[in-house]
Amino acid sequence: MKISPFKVEIWMNEHENDGIYNLTESCVSPLKMGELLELLDIKEKYLSDLLDMKLDYGDINGSDELKKQICQLYETAEPCNIAIAQGAINANEMTIMELIEPNDEMITFTPGYQQVSSLAESLGAKVIELELKEEKGWQVDFDELEKAITDKTKVICVTLPNNPTGTMLSTQACVRLIEIAERHDLYLFVDEVYRSLYADRFCYQGSLFDLYDKAIITSGLSKSFGLPGLRLGWIVGPKAFIDRIIYRRDYHIISISKMNDVLAVEVLKQKEKILSRNRDICLKNRAYLEEWIKHERHITNSFTSGTTQLIRYDMKIPSEELSLRVQKEAGIFFVPGSCFDCEYHLRLGGGIDPVIFQNGLNVFSNWLRQFD
Ligand SMILES: Cc1ncc(COP(=O)(O)O)c(C=O)c1O
Repeated sequence: MKISPFKVEIWMNEHENDGIYNLTESCVSPLKMGELLELLDIKEKYLSDLLDMKLDYGDINGSDELKKQICQLYETAEPCNIAIAQGAINANEMTIMELIEPNDEMITFTPGYQQVSSLAESLGAKVIELELKEEKGWQVDFDELEKAITDKTKVICVTLPNNPTGTMLSTQACVRLIEIAERHDLYLFVDEVYRSLYADRFCYQGSLFDLYDKAIITSGLSKSFGLPGLRLGWIVGPKAFIDRIIYRRDYHIISISKMNDVLAVEVLKQKEKILSRNRDICLKNRAYLEEWIKHERHITNSFTSGTTQLIRYDMKIPSEELSLRVQKEAGIFFVPGSCFDCEYHLRLGGGIDPVIFQNGLNVFSNWLRQFD
């Protein structure tokens, strides 16, 4: 089974630690363990429970309490709809491996998170990538989507909010998407790992799980919750599909870390504390970006509602070359648009520590002056 190199991950692995200002990170700024325990007011209890914890595999399928807490993020989910994974990446992997068979067709969108399409291709699927167009605000073109469906299409795959474009859908657009999937009896596979941060009244804030009975959702604590170090993800889907995932799961992960299961329960019980901290960070950065860009003549942005933005620059320098230069000369780390097959763009993370975000953008502005 041959698989294409995962461009964004390779770039991150090679260059992430070299910059002073990481302006590209897609997670909301992670808390330190001590800060998290204090925010949740569980420091003493969690630490003493840890000392007493037997380091066995724990609940193989994740604890009942964890599944119960995850259900609270959805209106209609029950524990039988949940499978626990090691991060959203493992949730995506198991979903695709269970769903896709050779010669299936899968429709997805580009620029996007490469994992799902490359993995499906490696399993022998034909992947049709529809372009999200910047001039249309990185939105889905539903006429194009309809035209791409054939009798071999099994699933429409979408990331909401999208990485890297930040695309979200209005309620009307969600209804249209579901109507198309339903008419053709297709699965709708939605990666919602960035869900829940913005209160944008034009965008649907809920989960597509609650709107369609063939929706399969992946999510986790890495992005909106800003806790990627917990490596905690999940799949929410129809019971019959989750039953199949539970069989498959034994081959992939056995169980998640018992320590993280316990901590994730506490995080989800008090989710509003963390989400409101993270929302504040994103809104602060958003306001700064809106002002900054007014004075920055080389950069434009479509301002979608998600956390990551794919900003455009007007210099005719390939994005990889530009990213390497700005890192070497100004200490700023970006993922280049080339990692998403979208030249003359850079991915900007909207959940970064606001001090780094603001200082980094100011340093970037100074660096850009050479192109005036
Ligand atoms: C859309 C999307 N899905 C999944 C993942 C993986 O997330 P996790 O850290 O939870 O495995 C990422 C990470 O960048 C992502 O952008």
